[in-house]
Amino acid sequence: MSQPRPIPRLLGSLLLLAAATLSGVVASGLAATPAQAAEPPVRPLGQTVPVPASVVPGGAPFTLTPETRIRTDSSGEVRAIGDRLAEVLRPSTGYALPVTDRPSPGAIRLRLSGKDSALGEEGYRLQSSRGSLTITAHRPAGLFRGVQTLRQLLPSRVEEDTRQPGPWQVAGGTITDSPRFAHRGAMLDVSRHFLTVDQVKRYLDHISLYKINKLHLHLSDDQGWRIAIDSWPRLATYGGSTQVGGGPGGYYTKAQYKEIVRYAAARHVEVVPEIDMPGHTNAALASYAELNCDGVAPPLYTGTAVGFSSLCVPKAVTYDFVDDVIREIAALTPGRYIHIGGDEAHSTSRADYVAFMNRVQPIVATYGKTVIGWHQLTGATPAEGAIAQYWGLDGTSQAEKEQVARAAQNGTRLILSPADRIYLDMKYNKDTELGLSWAGYVEVRRSYDWDPGAYLPGAPASAIAGVEAPLWTETISSNEHIDHMAFPRLPGVAELGWSPAATHDWEDYKVRLAAQGPRMEALGIDYYRSAQVPWPATQ
Ligand code: ACM
Repeated sequence: MSQPRPIPRLLGSLLLLAAATLSGVVASGLAATPAQAAEPPVRPLGQTVPVPASVVPGGAPFTLTPETRIRTDSSGEVRAIGDRLAEVLRPSTGYALPVTDRPSPGAIRLRLSGKDSALGEEGYRLQSSRGSLTITAHRPAGLFRGVQTLRQLLPSRVEEDTRQPGPWQVAGGTITDSPRFAHRGAMLDVSRHFLTVDQVKRYLDHISLYKINKLHLHLSDDQGWRIAIDSWPRLATYGGSTQVGGGPGGYYTKAQYKEIVRYAAARHVEVVPEIDMPGHTNAALASYAELNCDGVAPPLYTGTAVGFSSLCVPKAVTYDFVDDVIREIAALTPGRYIHIGGDEAHSTSRADYVAFMNRVQPIVATYGKTVIGWHQLTGATPAEGAIAQYWGLDGTSQAEKEQVARAAQNGTRLILSPADRIYLDMKYNKDTELGLSWAGYVEVRRSYDWDPGAYLPGAPASAIAGVEAPLWTETISSNEHIDHMAFPRLPGVAELGWSPAATHDWEDYKVRLAAQGPRMEALGIDYYRSAQVPWPATQ
């Protein structure tokens, strides 16, 4: 798709000034920031991240006014999406935006359509014209995704939480859109540094704007166990009591975990909990001596080494432990998946690793869930329906790549998380203070400029479930850290997962990404100002 070029900055400012003067907001004293003032008054239809599959511009723009209503179907799920849209738009516009299921001329309309099954689980159609703006979907998730597009078509200052100057217009035309891949994930490592419920919610707010639909929580590792398990309480109370560098760590109570799941579901994001096994288990081994082959609990660990811990594969109690943990987590998790880790088991013999993974996978099935494992799972026997998460890099051995590709040929689907492309904890360049560099430096272009469908030689495109961007937290603990490493790379991963391969074009993408700068600023996201991206001037 060819994207309209942005209006030159000076001309855009003049147009905005003219429009603002006409609508009287200058007189009211409301002023946009310089970066926002550089925005065109009406954003070209389709200038979003991810870019939509189909954009047909045309006709007069839709204008939000003090009288605009949000009309939903009577279903609670659709109503909730309307309420969420109103929550975003009310503070900045200052408009009442009542949500109603009554016919309302000139409304923003959110409607489910039984006829539009071709839109699938997450697709939507957005029709914008002078008289109305309608988003149609087959399923509620599609309406939610369409609402994220609508947000991005409005001026960036719509994301501010204080009153801003209008006008609030959406270019005329029709967008028809649905995702390339069903799995578009983000992972938070809440083990190396514990992240609070509010930090996780904030991340959910931000990733869902870009149509990410899975939040993978890495809930256990050597440095901390982060979820309460009633039948093994010391996992959380002791195993969760520290983190990298020391300090108090933390864990989620069951109620808090459910609150994360609820908050994610309201954004049509599925939570994928991970308990990493049989390696990366020092926090569990420290909490219960009987889980160790020698019956001796090691001390808690606050360093950043990997590969030194293993559950005791021959002991029966190991499988009582695994069964209890998976049963309790499955009961808290409405999503389809449980991630069982399986990476870097350097202290587990190969035979033990295979025996362990092959014994644990059926436990996941017993509790009605589907296995996801890091790609080393393909060295055992992946269960029917299991998904392997590939985290290799260009330098990964040919034999390892071939093992994963063979599993994909045999029906194991793949989530792609190549470390030298979309590990969000990799430094951008040598000057990046945060992060690691074992997979190399990953600038914004590098994280975007690859094709998941053709990435792993020998793996059929049909085996690719999607992409996922992990954020490991050895060096990351605050919202500022998260923002700096995830943004702006995460929107690129979201686009790789959502947009058709035919739209892939760095030159086009970088312009649309640049237009996200003022939006991220309005949302309080302190993103990395990569020199590769032509951000609008801020002063
Ligand atoms: C990993 O980075 N060890 C999955």
